[in-house]
Amino acid sequence: MFLVVGLPGAGKTTRAEELAAAAHALRLTADEWHISLFGNVIGDFQRPGGERWVLEGRLISVALQALRRGMSVVLDFGLWGRDERSALRWLARSAGASCQVVYLPVDKDLQIARIVHRQATAPDETFPMSAADVDRWREQFQAPDAAELDGGEIPAPPPGWQSWPEWAEDHWPTCTL
Ligand SMILES: Nc1ncnc2c1ncn2[C@@H]1O[C@H](COP(=O)(O)OP(=O)(O)OP(=O)(O)O)[C@@H](O)[C@H]1O
Ligand SMILES: [Mg+2]
Repeated sequence: MFLVVGLPGAGKTTRAEELAAAAHALRLTADEWHISLFGNVIGDFQRPGGERWVLEGRLISVALQALRRGMSVVLDFGLWGRDERSALRWLARSAGASCQVVYLPVDKDLQIARIVHRQATAPDETFPMSAADVDRWREQFQAPDAAELDGGEIPAPPPGWQSWPEWAEDHWPTCTL
């Protein structure tokens, strides 16, 4: 399983398409599903347990089924949080698959130029994003560390959680593991 990680405009979907072609993998791009099912409403991301997390939960279940059948999967979700990535690395391993974090850093000027270009050329394929959003998101984003990029040890779940599956079922309410 490939976890494609980066901010909006980092080039995740572009890379995910390349990886899927090269590895004959199933590509699951959450934004494509989100926009076709719910529209491009940015507020959906802000509600824990809301549309975005319900959707990702179902896609994760599909991903795990595919991994158990021996297929490769590319998850193109954003995956800003280390806990999300740790949970998915754990779940991939439990499905008998290896997992690679593919991080696409992007500097702010390039990011904004790409977002503006995409908004102008393909507004139906993206979410509306302002310069203030970009600044806030750059603060919130947790860049993968060396251990994640090297496939090192998976950290323990956050305090209060017994296991990563338990954490995952809370974060992505519709995922069946
Ligand atoms: N390596 C690259 N070189 C030049 N342009 C690129 C590169 N990767 C992506 N782009 C362009 O930048 C824009 C954003 O790329 P892409 O849609 O892949 O980003 P993304 O990370 O998936 O963004 P989002 O999180 O908003 O979906 C697109 O117009 C794409 O064609
Ligand atoms: Mg994308």
